[in-house]
Amino acid sequence: MKLGLVTSNKHKLEEYRQGLERLGVDIELLKADCEEIQTDTLQKVVRSCVEQLKDQGYRNFMLDDSGLFVPSLNGFPGVYSAYVMETIGCPGMLRLIHGLDRKARFECCIGVSSDELGDFSVTGVSPGRIIYEERGTGGFGYDPIFVPDGDERTFAQMDMLSKNQHSHRGKAMVLLAAEIKRRMGNWK
Ligand code: IMP
Repeated sequence: MKLGLVTSNKHKLEEYRQGLERLGVDIELLKADCEEIQTDTLQKVVRSCVEQLKDQGYRNFMLDDSGLFVPSLNGFPGVYSAYVMETIGCPGMLRLIHGLDRKARFECCIGVSSDELGDFSVTGVSPGRIIYEERGTGGFGYDPIFVPDGDERTFAQMDMLSKNQHSHRGKAMVLLAAEIKRRMGNWK
């Protein structure tokens, strides 16, 4: 199974390459653009992007949208994670959560459009917490302030294999590979 991956984030491209190769899914970078709508769930953002790209004539591709959800901030920044990262970054998130419960989760929704397998999406979730200061130099975005449950390292302190084992994106990749397998069985 080969899919074009739509992303402008080189970290995501590397994580997908590393994770999906092991799961038997080939990807190649697909340069395409969609307008991210303002809405309340990652799934709606992904569905809209998939439809926009299909309208532009693209076929056999995948894309994702991710976010950091903090229950003590009523789920913020969630679908606004990119804007919050661009404006106040990790230091701003640490200020926002000061004095509040630090439980948080990352979510990653992957949308697929395939001529053979149809259109579908899967969502991976990584529960964890926001720590008190930035730690580590790897990864991107909120990685230096997020520690997933079951580990003491931030995503920024992990190599890519470990991050993929714990992360929202890694978990979404496992669900993606399972769904592809299931749909291939149905299709044959
Ligand atoms: P998007 O999926 O590229 O729209 O990501 C939304 C925001 O969440 C961006 O600011 C990313 O930097 C951040 N983000 C997405 N995935 C991750 C991740 O795996 N680690 C840390 N931050 C992430």
